[in-house]
Amino acid sequence: MPGSQLRIVCVAGARPNYMKVKPVMDALEARGAEVVLVHTGQHYDESMNEVFFRDLGIRPPDHFLGVGSGSHAEQTGRVMAAFEPLLGQVSPDAVVVVGDINSTLACALVTAKAGPLLAHVEAGLRSRDWAMPEEVNRVATDRVSDYLLASSPDAAENLRAEGYRDDQVHLVGNVMIDTLFANLERARGSDVLDRYGLARGGYGLVTLHRPANVDDPGVLTGLLKALGEIAGHCPLLLPVHPRAAGRLAELGVPGGLRLVPPAGYLDFIALQDAARIVLTDSGGVQEETTALGVPCVTLRDNTERPITVEQGTNVLAGRAPERIVAAVTRVLADPPEPRRPPLWDGHAGDRIAEVLLSGGTAGDRRRPTDLPPGSR
Ligand code: UD1
Ligand code: UDP
Repeated sequence: MPGSQLRIVCVAGARPNYMKVKPVMDALEARGAEVVLVHTGQHYDESMNEVFFRDLGIRPPDHFLGVGSGSHAEQTGRVMAAFEPLLGQVSPDAVVVVGDINSTLACALVTAKAGPLLAHVEAGLRSRDWAMPEEVNRVATDRVSDYLLASSPDAAENLRAEGYRDDQVHLVGNVMIDTLFANLERARGSDVLDRYGLARGGYGLVTLHRPANVDDPGVLTGLLKALGEIAGHCPLLLPVHPRAAGRLAELGVPGGLRLVPPAGYLDFIALQDAARIVLTDSGGVQEETTALGVPCVTLRDNTERPITVEQGTNVLAGRAPERIVAAVTRVLADPPEPRRPPLWDGHAGDRIAEVLLSGGTAGDRRRPTDLPPGSR
Protein backbone atom coordinates (compact mmCIF):
# COMPACT_ATOMS: atom_id res chain seq x y z
CA MET A 1 0.00 0.00 0.00
CA PRO A 2 1.58 3.36 -0.95
CA GLY A 3 2.77 5.30 2.09
CA SER A 4 1.23 8.51 0.77
CA GLN A 5 -2.21 7.16 1.71
CA LEU A 6 -1.35 6.66 5.36
CA ARG A 7 -1.39 8.99 8.36
CA ILE A 8 0.71 7.68 11.25
CA VAL A 9 0.99 9.12 14.76
CA CYS A 10 4.41 8.68 16.40
CA VAL A 11 4.52 9.10 20.19
CA ALA A 12 7.47 10.35 22.24
CA GLY A 13 7.45 11.28 25.90
CA ALA A 14 10.81 11.07 27.61
CA ARG A 15 14.59 11.05 27.05
CA PRO A 16 15.00 7.50 25.70
CA ASN A 17 12.12 7.95 23.20
CA TYR A 18 13.48 10.73 21.01
CA MET A 19 16.37 8.73 19.53
CA LYS A 20 13.99 5.79 18.88
CA VAL A 21 11.25 7.75 17.17
CA LYS A 22 13.46 9.83 14.85
CA PRO A 23 14.58 7.06 12.44
CA VAL A 24 11.01 5.73 12.26
CA MET A 25 9.63 9.17 11.40
CA ASP A 26 12.31 9.72 8.76
CA ALA A 27 11.75 6.34 7.12
CA LEU A 28 7.96 6.76 7.05
CA GLU A 29 8.15 10.29 5.65
CA ALA A 30 10.69 9.22 3.02
CA ARG A 31 8.07 6.76 1.77
CA GLY A 32 5.35 9.39 1.58
CA ALA A 33 3.44 8.68 4.82
CA GLU A 34 2.06 11.63 6.76
CA VAL A 35 3.64 11.57 10.23
CA VAL A 36 2.05 13.35 13.19
CA LEU A 37 4.45 13.67 16.14
CA VAL A 38 2.82 13.68 19.58
CA HIS A 39 4.94 14.57 22.63
CA THR A 40 3.31 13.63 25.93
CA GLY A 41 5.53 15.92 28.02
CA GLN A 42 6.51 13.17 30.50
CA HIS A 43 10.02 14.71 30.46
CA TYR A 44 10.12 18.49 30.21
CA ASP A 45 13.42 19.94 31.52
CA GLU A 46 15.50 21.53 28.77
CA SER A 47 18.27 18.99 29.43
CA MET A 48 15.85 16.01 29.26
CA ASN A 49 13.90 17.27 26.28
CA GLU A 50 14.67 20.24 23.99
CA VAL A 51 18.37 19.44 23.73
CA PHE A 52 17.47 16.14 22.00
CA PHE A 53 15.23 17.85 19.46
CA ARG A 54 18.13 20.18 18.63
CA ASP A 55 20.88 17.53 18.63
CA LEU A 56 18.88 15.03 16.56
CA GLY A 57 17.23 17.55 14.25
CA ILE A 58 13.70 16.47 15.19
CA ARG A 59 11.04 18.95 14.14
CA PRO A 60 8.88 20.41 16.93
CA PRO A 61 6.04 18.11 17.97
CA ASP A 62 2.73 18.64 16.19
CA HIS A 63 0.93 18.15 19.51
CA PHE A 64 2.26 18.57 23.06
CA LEU A 65 0.21 17.02 25.87
CA GLY A 66 2.20 18.58 28.76
CA VAL A 67 1.45 15.81 31.28
CA GLY A 68 4.58 16.29 33.44
CA SER A 69 5.50 14.22 36.50
CA GLY A 70 3.31 12.29 38.94
CA SER A 71 2.68 8.86 40.40
CA HIS A 72 2.39 6.01 37.89
CA ALA A 73 -1.41 6.18 37.91
CA GLU A 74 -1.49 9.98 37.69
CA GLN A 75 1.01 10.14 34.86
CA THR A 76 -0.43 7.22 32.87
CA GLY A 77 -3.97 8.51 33.41
CA ARG A 78 -3.12 12.06 32.35
CA VAL A 79 -1.53 10.81 29.12
CA MET A 80 -4.58 8.64 28.38
CA ALA A 81 -7.05 11.45 29.06
CA ALA A 82 -5.13 13.87 26.84
CA PHE A 83 -4.32 11.39 24.06
CA GLU A 84 -7.84 10.00 23.60
CA PRO A 85 -9.51 13.16 22.20
CA LEU A 86 -6.42 13.99 20.15
CA LEU A 87 -6.51 10.56 18.52
CA GLY A 88 -10.15 11.12 17.59
CA GLN A 89 -9.26 14.48 16.07
CA VAL A 90 -6.17 13.28 14.12
CA SER A 91 -7.81 9.99 13.12
CA PRO A 92 -4.65 8.18 11.99
CA ASP A 93 -4.37 4.80 10.31
CA ALA A 94 -1.74 3.68 12.81
CA VAL A 95 0.03 4.73 16.00
CA VAL A 96 3.68 3.95 16.72
CA VAL A 97 4.83 3.75 20.34
CA VAL A 98 8.44 3.09 21.36
CA GLY A 99 10.15 1.64 24.42
CA ASP A 100 8.63 0.99 27.82
CA ILE A 101 7.79 4.20 29.63
CA ASN A 102 4.43 5.18 31.10
CA SER A 103 3.62 7.27 28.01
CA THR A 104 4.15 4.16 25.86
CA LEU A 105 1.59 2.10 27.74
CA ALA A 106 -0.89 4.97 28.10
CA CYS A 107 -1.00 5.69 24.36
CA ALA A 108 -1.06 1.97 23.56
CA LEU A 109 -4.16 1.39 25.71
CA VAL A 110 -5.98 4.36 24.20
CA THR A 111 -5.11 3.29 20.64
CA ALA A 112 -6.17 -0.31 21.18
CA LYS A 113 -9.66 0.83 22.19
CA ALA A 114 -9.94 3.63 19.62
CA GLY A 115 -9.31 1.55 16.52
CA PRO A 116 -6.12 2.55 14.68
CA LEU A 117 -3.47 -0.12 14.26
CA LEU A 118 -0.83 -0.10 16.98
CA ALA A 119 2.87 -0.74 16.42
CA HIS A 120 5.30 -1.27 19.30
CA VAL A 121 8.96 -0.57 18.58
CA GLU A 122 11.16 -2.60 20.98
CA ALA A 123 8.55 -5.29 21.53
CA GLY A 124 9.47 -8.49 23.35
CA LEU A 125 12.20 -7.24 25.68
CA ARG A 126 11.74 -8.93 29.05
CA SER A 127 13.67 -8.51 32.32
CA ARG A 128 11.27 -10.92 34.05
CA ASP A 129 11.48 -8.54 37.01
CA TRP A 130 7.95 -7.45 37.88
CA ALA A 131 9.28 -4.93 40.39
CA MET A 132 10.36 -2.82 37.39
CA PRO A 133 7.53 -0.54 36.24
CA GLU A 134 8.92 -0.86 32.72
CA GLU A 135 8.33 -4.63 32.69
CA VAL A 136 4.62 -4.06 33.30
CA ASN A 137 4.59 -1.44 30.55
CA ARG A 138 6.42 -3.75 28.11
CA VAL A 139 4.21 -6.79 28.62
CA ALA A 140 0.92 -4.85 28.59
CA THR A 141 1.88 -2.77 25.52
CA ASP A 142 2.82 -5.87 23.56
CA ARG A 143 -0.49 -7.52 24.43
CA VAL A 144 -2.55 -4.80 22.73
CA SER A 145 -0.22 -4.19 19.77
CA ASP A 146 -0.87 -5.25 16.18
CA TYR A 147 2.74 -4.98 15.06
CA LEU A 148 5.41 -6.31 17.43
CA LEU A 149 8.67 -4.85 16.17
CA ALA A 150 11.57 -6.64 17.86
CA SER A 151 15.11 -5.29 18.13
CA SER A 152 16.88 -8.61 18.74
CA PRO A 153 16.29 -12.34 18.18
CA ASP A 154 15.81 -13.00 21.92
CA ALA A 155 12.97 -10.45 21.99
CA ALA A 156 11.28 -12.17 19.04
CA GLU A 157 11.70 -15.53 20.79
CA ASN A 158 10.15 -14.16 23.99
CA LEU A 159 7.10 -13.10 22.01
CA ARG A 160 6.75 -16.46 20.30
CA ALA A 161 7.08 -18.19 23.69
CA GLU A 162 4.21 -16.01 24.96
CA GLY A 163 2.04 -17.26 22.12
CA TYR A 164 2.19 -14.42 19.61
CA ARG A 165 2.09 -15.63 16.04
CA ASP A 166 4.84 -15.29 13.46
CA ASP A 167 2.80 -12.82 11.40
CA GLN A 168 2.63 -10.44 14.37
CA VAL A 169 6.35 -10.52 15.19
CA HIS A 170 8.85 -8.65 13.01
CA LEU A 171 12.57 -8.76 13.76
CA VAL A 172 13.57 -5.33 12.49
CA GLY A 173 16.74 -4.45 14.42
CA ASN A 174 17.55 -1.63 16.78
CA VAL A 175 16.40 1.93 16.04
CA MET A 176 18.59 3.29 18.85
CA ILE A 177 21.60 2.13 16.86
CA ASP A 178 20.24 3.79 13.68
CA THR A 179 20.42 7.09 15.54
CA LEU A 180 23.79 6.30 17.07
CA PHE A 181 25.39 5.59 13.70
CA ALA A 182 23.70 8.57 12.04
CA ASN A 183 25.17 10.92 14.65
CA LEU A 184 28.48 9.33 15.67
CA GLU A 185 30.73 11.54 13.54
CA ARG A 186 28.98 14.69 14.74
CA ALA A 187 29.25 13.45 18.33
CA ARG A 188 32.98 12.90 17.89
CA GLY A 189 33.20 16.59 17.00
CA SER A 190 31.80 17.59 20.43
CA ASP A 191 34.15 19.52 22.75
CA VAL A 192 32.67 17.89 25.85
CA LEU A 193 35.92 16.15 26.87
CA ASP A 194 37.76 19.50 26.88
CA ARG A 195 34.95 21.16 28.79
CA TYR A 196 35.22 18.55 31.53
CA GLY A 197 39.02 18.24 31.33
CA LEU A 198 38.85 14.53 30.39
CA ALA A 199 41.28 12.49 28.28
CA ARG A 200 40.13 9.81 25.83
CA GLY A 201 40.28 6.43 27.62
CA GLY A 202 41.12 8.12 30.91
CA TYR A 203 37.80 8.08 32.79
CA GLY A 204 34.68 6.08 33.51
CA LEU A 205 31.15 7.29 32.71
CA VAL A 206 28.26 6.55 35.11
CA THR A 207 24.47 6.83 34.85
CA LEU A 208 21.95 5.95 37.57
CA HIS A 209 18.20 6.43 37.45
CA ARG A 210 16.36 3.14 38.07
CA PRO A 211 13.99 3.49 41.05
CA ALA A 212 15.48 0.29 42.55
CA ASN A 213 18.90 2.01 42.61
CA VAL A 214 18.24 5.64 43.39
CA ASP A 215 15.01 5.80 45.43
CA ASP A 216 16.29 3.72 48.37
CA PRO A 217 19.04 5.55 50.30
CA GLY A 218 20.49 2.25 51.55
CA VAL A 219 20.98 0.87 48.04
CA LEU A 220 22.31 4.18 46.71
CA THR A 221 24.79 4.42 49.60
CA GLY A 222 26.14 0.97 48.65
CA LEU A 223 26.46 1.98 45.00
CA LEU A 224 28.29 5.18 45.97
CA LYS A 225 30.68 3.16 48.11
CA ALA A 226 31.54 0.98 45.10
CA LEU A 227 31.88 4.01 42.83
CA GLY A 228 34.20 5.65 45.38
CA GLU A 229 36.51 2.63 45.34
CA ILE A 230 36.54 2.51 41.54
CA ALA A 231 37.17 6.26 41.32
CA GLY A 232 40.38 5.66 43.29
CA HIS A 233 41.81 4.06 40.11
CA CYS A 234 39.73 5.63 37.36
CA PRO A 235 38.06 9.07 37.73
CA LEU A 236 34.29 8.89 37.18
CA LEU A 237 31.87 11.35 35.60
CA LEU A 238 28.15 11.08 36.47
CA PRO A 239 25.65 13.19 34.48
CA VAL A 240 22.82 13.28 37.02
CA HIS A 241 19.28 12.22 36.06
CA PRO A 242 16.71 14.49 37.77
CA ARG A 243 15.21 11.49 39.59
CA ALA A 244 18.54 10.96 41.40
CA ALA A 245 19.57 14.58 41.95
CA GLY A 246 17.96 15.17 45.36
CA ARG A 247 19.10 11.88 46.87
CA LEU A 248 22.70 12.32 45.64
CA ALA A 249 22.82 15.84 47.09
CA GLU A 250 21.52 14.51 50.45
CA LEU A 251 23.96 11.61 50.66
CA GLY A 252 27.01 13.39 49.23
CA VAL A 253 29.40 11.64 46.84
CA PRO A 254 32.91 10.23 47.28
CA GLY A 255 36.02 11.96 45.93
CA GLY A 256 36.85 11.15 42.32
CA LEU A 257 33.15 10.92 41.36
CA ARG A 258 32.15 14.14 39.62
CA LEU A 259 28.49 15.09 39.27
CA VAL A 260 27.46 17.12 36.22
CA PRO A 261 24.06 18.01 34.71
CA PRO A 262 22.36 15.54 32.31
CA ALA A 263 24.26 15.59 29.01
CA GLY A 264 22.76 16.31 25.61
CA TYR A 265 22.72 13.46 23.09
CA LEU A 266 25.84 14.37 21.10
CA ASP A 267 27.85 15.09 24.23
CA PHE A 268 26.71 11.88 25.89
CA ILE A 269 27.59 9.74 22.86
CA ALA A 270 31.00 11.44 22.78
CA LEU A 271 31.43 10.68 26.49
CA GLN A 272 30.52 6.99 25.99
CA ASP A 273 32.71 6.66 22.91
CA ALA A 274 35.82 7.96 24.71
CA ALA A 275 35.20 6.28 28.08
CA ARG A 276 37.47 3.52 29.41
CA ILE A 277 34.42 1.94 30.98
CA VAL A 278 30.71 2.76 31.43
CA LEU A 279 28.76 1.90 34.60
CA THR A 280 25.02 2.17 34.17
CA ASP A 281 21.50 1.05 34.97
CA SER A 282 20.12 2.48 31.71
CA GLY A 283 18.59 0.24 29.06
CA GLY A 284 19.69 2.32 26.09
CA VAL A 285 23.24 2.78 27.35
CA GLN A 286 23.73 -1.02 27.53
CA GLU A 287 22.90 -1.10 23.82
CA GLU A 288 24.97 1.90 22.76
CA THR A 289 28.10 0.64 24.54
CA THR A 290 27.68 -2.70 22.78
CA ALA A 291 27.46 -0.98 19.39
CA LEU A 292 30.44 1.23 20.23
CA GLY A 293 32.49 -1.68 21.64
CA VAL A 294 33.00 0.17 24.95
CA PRO A 295 33.11 -2.00 28.12
CA CYS A 296 29.90 -1.68 30.16
CA VAL A 297 29.13 -2.85 33.69
CA THR A 298 25.41 -2.85 34.46
CA LEU A 299 24.45 -2.08 38.04
CA ARG A 300 21.37 -4.30 38.05
CA ASP A 301 20.49 -7.92 38.87
CA ASN A 302 18.84 -8.51 35.49
CA THR A 303 18.56 -7.05 32.03
CA GLU A 304 15.82 -7.05 29.41
CA ARG A 305 18.65 -6.77 26.89
CA PRO A 306 20.57 -10.06 27.37
CA ILE A 307 22.05 -9.84 23.87
CA THR A 308 24.33 -7.05 25.12
CA VAL A 309 25.80 -9.56 27.59
CA GLU A 310 25.87 -12.55 25.23
CA GLN A 311 27.23 -10.74 22.17
CA GLY A 312 28.21 -7.29 23.33
CA THR A 313 30.41 -5.67 25.94
CA ASN A 314 27.96 -5.73 28.85
CA VAL A 315 28.58 -7.45 32.20
CA LEU A 316 25.76 -7.73 34.76
CA ALA A 317 27.26 -6.89 38.14
CA GLY A 318 24.22 -6.65 40.41
CA ARG A 319 24.06 -4.02 43.12
CA ALA A 320 26.31 -5.35 45.89
CA PRO A 321 29.37 -3.04 46.25
CA GLU A 322 31.97 -5.83 46.38
CA ARG A 323 30.52 -7.54 43.28
CA ILE A 324 30.55 -4.26 41.36
CA VAL A 325 34.17 -3.50 42.26
CA ALA A 326 35.20 -7.06 41.33
CA ALA A 327 33.36 -6.85 37.98
CA VAL A 328 34.96 -3.52 37.11
CA THR A 329 38.43 -4.78 38.06
CA ARG A 330 37.91 -7.83 35.83
CA VAL A 331 36.58 -5.82 32.90
CA LEU A 332 39.39 -3.24 33.07
CA ALA A 333 42.00 -6.02 33.09
CA ASP A 334 40.36 -8.01 30.32
CA PRO A 335 37.80 -6.01 28.31
CA PRO A 336 35.12 -8.12 26.57
CA GLU A 337 35.43 -8.66 22.81
CA PRO A 338 32.51 -6.93 21.16
CA ARG A 339 30.34 -8.47 18.46
CA ARG A 340 27.51 -6.41 17.06
CA PRO A 341 24.10 -8.13 17.24
CA PRO A 342 22.35 -8.93 13.96
CA LEU A 343 20.40 -6.05 12.37
CA TRP A 344 21.99 -3.41 14.60
CA ASP A 345 23.12 -1.91 11.34
CA GLY A 346 21.56 1.53 11.03
CA HIS A 347 18.54 0.42 8.97
CA ALA A 348 15.93 -0.62 11.54
CA GLY A 349 13.79 2.45 10.79
CA ASP A 350 13.61 1.46 7.11
CA ARG A 351 12.55 -2.08 7.99
CA ILE A 352 9.87 -0.75 10.33
CA ALA A 353 8.50 1.55 7.64
CA GLU A 354 8.39 -1.35 5.17
CA VAL A 355 6.40 -3.47 7.65
CA LEU A 356 3.94 -0.70 8.48
CA LEU A 357 3.41 0.52 4.94
CA SER A 358 2.65 -2.96 3.67
CA GLY A 359 -0.07 -3.32 6.32
CA GLY A 360 -2.96 -1.63 4.53
CA THR A 361 -5.02 1.51 5.07
CA ALA A 362 -7.87 2.07 7.50
CA GLY A 363 -10.37 0.61 5.01
CA ASP A 364 -8.31 -2.42 4.14
CA ARG A 365 -6.35 -3.37 7.15
CA ARG A 366 -4.89 -6.36 8.76
CA ARG A 367 -5.61 -6.65 12.45
CA PRO A 368 -3.56 -9.62 13.60
CA THR A 369 -4.89 -9.41 17.15
CA ASP A 370 -8.50 -9.78 15.96
CA LEU A 371 -8.37 -13.53 16.01
CA PRO A 372 -10.46 -16.01 17.94
CA PRO A 373 -9.48 -16.57 21.58
CA GLY A 374 -6.86 -19.26 21.95
CA SER A 375 -5.24 -18.53 18.61
CA ARG A 376 -2.23 -16.91 20.25
C1 UD1 B 1 11.27 7.41 33.08
C2 UD1 B 1 10.81 6.03 32.67
C3 UD1 B 1 12.00 5.09 32.60
C4 UD1 B 1 13.09 5.65 31.73
C5 UD1 B 1 13.45 7.05 32.19
C6 UD1 B 1 14.44 7.63 31.21
C7 UD1 B 1 8.57 5.33 33.44
C8 UD1 B 1 7.83 4.48 34.40
N1 UD1 B 1 9.89 5.46 33.66
O1 UD1 B 1 11.79 7.31 34.41
O2 UD1 B 1 11.59 3.84 32.07
O3 UD1 B 1 14.22 4.82 31.80
O4 UD1 B 1 12.27 7.86 32.20
O5 UD1 B 1 15.14 8.71 31.67
O6 UD1 B 1 7.99 5.82 32.51
N2 UD1 B 1 11.93 14.94 36.51
C9 UD1 B 1 12.37 16.23 36.37
N3 UD1 B 1 12.41 16.74 35.10
C10 UD1 B 1 12.03 16.07 34.00
C11 UD1 B 1 11.57 14.76 34.16
C12 UD1 B 1 11.52 14.20 35.42
O7 UD1 B 1 12.73 16.89 37.33
O8 UD1 B 1 12.11 16.61 32.89
C13 UD1 B 1 11.91 14.34 37.88
C14 UD1 B 1 10.58 14.52 38.59
O9 UD1 B 1 10.84 14.72 39.94
C15 UD1 B 1 9.91 13.17 38.41
C16 UD1 B 1 11.11 12.22 38.40
O10 UD1 B 1 12.15 12.94 37.77
O11 UD1 B 1 8.99 12.86 39.41
C17 UD1 B 1 10.83 10.93 37.65
O12 UD1 B 1 10.37 11.18 36.31
P1 UD1 B 1 9.47 10.09 35.55
O13 UD1 B 1 9.28 10.49 34.15
O14 UD1 B 1 8.25 9.80 36.34
O15 UD1 B 1 10.33 8.80 35.65
P2 UD1 B 1 11.87 8.57 35.33
O16 UD1 B 1 12.52 8.13 36.57
O17 UD1 B 1 12.41 9.76 34.62
N1 UDP C 1 21.59 9.95 27.47
C1 UDP C 1 21.93 11.28 27.24
N2 UDP C 1 22.40 12.03 28.28
C2 UDP C 1 22.58 11.53 29.53
C3 UDP C 1 22.23 10.17 29.76
C4 UDP C 1 21.72 9.41 28.71
O1 UDP C 1 21.81 11.77 26.11
O2 UDP C 1 23.02 12.27 30.43
C5 UDP C 1 21.04 9.15 26.35
C6 UDP C 1 21.75 7.85 26.07
O3 UDP C 1 22.84 8.04 25.17
C7 UDP C 1 20.64 7.03 25.45
C8 UDP C 1 19.40 7.48 26.20
O4 UDP C 1 19.74 8.77 26.72
O5 UDP C 1 20.50 7.36 24.06
C9 UDP C 1 19.07 6.53 27.32
O6 UDP C 1 18.09 7.11 28.13
P1 UDP C 1 17.90 6.75 29.67
O7 UDP C 1 19.13 6.15 30.22
O8 UDP C 1 17.36 7.97 30.31
O9 UDP C 1 16.69 5.71 29.65
P2 UDP C 1 16.59 4.12 29.45
O10 UDP C 1 17.31 3.77 28.21
O11 UDP C 1 17.16 3.48 30.68
O12 UDP C 1 15.13 3.88 29.39
